[in-house]
Amino acid sequence: MTITEFSLQHDGDASEYRAGTTDPDLQSWVDGIARLTQPAEMVWCDGSLREADLLTKQLVADGTLIRLNPEWRPNSFLARSDPRDVARVENRTFISSVDPDDAGPTNNWADPTEMRDTLNGVFAGSMRGRTMYVVPFSMGPLGGPISQLGVEITDSPYVVLSMGIMTRMGEKVLAMIEGGESWVRTVHSVGYPLIQSGGARRADVAWPCNDEKYIVQFPETREVWSYGSGYGGNALLAKKCFALRIASVMARDEGWLAEHMLLIKVTSPEGGVFHVAAAFPSACGKTNLAMLRPTIPGWNVETIGDDIAWMRQGEDGRLWAINPEAGFFGVAPGTGELTNATAVNTLWGNTIFTNVALRDDGDVWWEGLTETPPAHLIDWEGNDWTPASGRPAAHPNSRFTVSAAQCPAIADDWQALGGVPIDAILFGGRRATNVPLVAQARSWKHGVFMGATISSEKTAAAEGILGELRRDPFAMLPFCGYNMADYWAHWLRIGKELGVNAPAIFQVNWFRKGSDGGFLWPGFGENSRVLEWIVRRLEGTADVIDTPIGVLPTADGLNLDGLDLTEDAVEQLFTIDNASWRAECDLTEEYFAQFGDRVPAALNAELASLRYHLKD
Ligand code: GTP
Ligand code: SPV
Ligand code: MN
Repeated sequence: MTITEFSLQHDGDASEYRAGTTDPDLQSWVDGIARLTQPAEMVWCDGSLREADLLTKQLVADGTLIRLNPEWRPNSFLARSDPRDVARVENRTFISSVDPDDAGPTNNWADPTEMRDTLNGVFAGSMRGRTMYVVPFSMGPLGGPISQLGVEITDSPYVVLSMGIMTRMGEKVLAMIEGGESWVRTVHSVGYPLIQSGGARRADVAWPCNDEKYIVQFPETREVWSYGSGYGGNALLAKKCFALRIASVMARDEGWLAEHMLLIKVTSPEGGVFHVAAAFPSACGKTNLAMLRPTIPGWNVETIGDDIAWMRQGEDGRLWAINPEAGFFGVAPGTGELTNATAVNTLWGNTIFTNVALRDDGDVWWEGLTETPPAHLIDWEGNDWTPASGRPAAHPNSRFTVSAAQCPAIADDWQALGGVPIDAILFGGRRATNVPLVAQARSWKHGVFMGATISSEKTAAAEGILGELRRDPFAMLPFCGYNMADYWAHWLRIGKELGVNAPAIFQVNWFRKGSDGGFLWPGFGENSRVLEWIVRRLEGTADVIDTPIGVLPTADGLNLDGLDLTEDAVEQLFTIDNASWRAECDLTEEYFAQFGDRVPAALNAELASLRYHLKD
């Protein structure tokens, strides 16, 4: 194997690139992976703009990226994935802990010894004929007390480019590792070697991947191995695999929280500042709330993060949070001027779009970007499309990858080393029935019960049946790296430590439907009205009604000025039907039962109390 640099394919000076690292652990790990996967070349990524530019040029030449018309979308690109590689694959995602009970009933467990054998088999020679990239990255601002380092080895230049947007990546991180900081090992291969086992060479394809996929977390050794997919959370290993699955295990052991949450800074008309974290399942509105433009006068919402929050108790006793990511990997469909103008403005340039449609003028389009679709497009699979085609032009899980710094609403403190102090935590899901627009938990324990019992209709973010109602506790079902019941116990422990400094907890539901099947609540910018009520609760000025499921606004408690909502719709948004909720309790009991005696007593007590209060 030779060590080759970009400069050898172009015309730079090879001597300016590094050939390895002074860190012996990193060097021997990289050498070991190279021996296993047998790449033709190796590149140590420095994270420079020049490197990103060379990579994009190479990806355009190879046909993986299409350069968009720079008049409309400077330095932006479209990638079309293989149609068999369009979302996370939950049934191919494994938690490989020594004890199956440490993975728990909601995860796919795999025996670590057997899984290592399997992985050694599929990774053997998997990078033949390709370049292997070593990508050092930091989750969170460099050197922050909540931040963590990692390295991803990958054979996908698309992944390298995306990691450069989604994380702080390159030289400086490598220097920190060489300085002795600890880091997490992650290995990724698309599983499409260009030299096959018999030695025959084959041409590359625009989106290499493999029908056989493995997304494997080893929680005990804090390692990730991902094979066969180049898409999103399957391949950008810093995101779900590290920042949620592995980090949740680190957080359990070290007393902090790694969560599937957006982060925002809310400023009231009086100048009060509040930081809010919210957990909603995939494709359920985190990016929208993270970039919300209030419709009510005097309120301001600024973005800190749209997908992941790491939270830790600070010296003042409060809970402090960072966004460990540096970019957004956001759902494109449904993102438009009316629903999320801030996101649309963020995407002006320097953006990678994946699986959206291509306009004839070389710009992009997706369902919901504009009300009227263009008369002709090339759809996400590369075929001609017109509004009469009868199928979406963009894949429902098509995404944009863009730097967070480019967001016009980004908060000034979004990269604060120690994070921001959290005042409120929201839990939500897609629920057509039962769950009211907003309810406050009576206590931390009650809030943990709310989080533990979230259910939501399935979206296109993962392979599976759309719309199916499933439990998604804390929006962490696909992302918790250990036994979900132990995770609830961990949340209860954190609450105890925080005591009176614990954030208030709320449940929200933008997705309740009326008898006509339409959404009862206008959502999007109008969600600011719910944020206003939440802030007034934090200030202790909003009156409430106590109900069995939690504390609700009074009839005139929510600011509905200027909203065209019927009285009937408002009533339906807040209706608590005791019989339906008793049925929910039966399902919750069944759900809890699968975790056996690992379910914390406090949650069983919350269930019993809810049942008691639901008696007519
Ligand atoms: P991941 O990135 O997959 O974790 O998801 P996310 O939670 O960030 O998803 P995102 O914000 O991109 O959700 C997008 C979907 O939610 C789109 O279909 C939006 O139209 C829909 N959505 C977001 N906010 C609202 C709302 O207030 N009301 C309604 N009805 N839909 C909403
Ligand atoms: C999600 O599915 O929750 C995402 C997208 O945020 S992915 O990174 O693909 O997991
Ligand atoms: Mn997510």
